Amino acid sequence: MTTTEDSAVSSPPRAAIKARNLRIDDWRRGPILTVLGITVWVAYATFRVFYQGDYWVADYHYLTPFYSPCVSEGCVPESAHFGRFLPDHPLIPYAALSLPFLLAFRLTCYYYRKAYYRSFWLSPPACAVPDGHAKYTGETRFPLILQNFHRYFFYLAFAISLINTWDAILAFHSPDGFGLGLGNVVLWANVVLLWCYTLGCHSCRHVMGGRMKHFSKHPIRYRLWTFSSVLNARHMMWAWITLASLALTDLYVMAVAAGWITDLRFIG
Ligand code: FES
Repeated sequence: MTTTEDSAVSSPPRAAIKARNLRIDDWRRGPILTVLGITVWVAYATFRVFYQGDYWVADYHYLTPFYSPCVSEGCVPESAHFGRFLPDHPLIPYAALSLPFLLAFRLTCYYYRKAYYRSFWLSPPACAVPDGHAKYTGETRFPLILQNFHRYFFYLAFAISLINTWDAILAFHSPDGFGLGLGNVVLWANVVLLWCYTLGCHSCRHVMGGRMKHFSKHPIRYRLWTFSSVLNARHMMWAWITLASLALTDLYVMAVAAGWITDLRFIG
């Protein structure tokens, strides 16, 4: 039987080896790239979320995902597909209803946990490299025990992905009615990638196929679980691709909204 003493959190000390670690490969590369990538993304996202401008293209109804759903009284009325009920304040993001949950969803994601535990906390920085801290308590106490809420954030992220999908549908617009442009391709590419990340979530996989004794008696759930498992196998890839697609989609909408570029139109 496993006891607290021999669990991973309080296991016996490592063997008495003088070298700090025995790895001869470039194990620092991964954590360094992770720190750089996440830092650049967070800096860009923070700037955009509090910029409160150039988030909506009125002619084509493009709304950047960083401002969706736009629920502040400061939102352009046409961009507020779900009403405007939050006060307009420089410190309250226009999408303050969704952003905290999306942040929590990513922060508690199994992949991102691994990424920032290794790269920012050095806990541990890589396999077979000692922890950067003298004490290790894992996720057994506050605040890290809150990582267990990930399954609930999944449901909220699922709802927000539906909202992003709705935004992309409404964006088939031009001043004459129906419209199609490069912006639609960008918005839809981002939505599809977001679904690949969200539906490949470990919690989604459990929702689809967990707590079942016989897959053969639940063929639909088995298929859904298989689909989620295929996406889940590349969860790290989707995690990084969606960070890039979110930022690039936002950049595109900002560039068109600010008049830096004109949208390439196919119809309308
Ligand atoms: Fe990554 Fe759920 S495990 S989103």
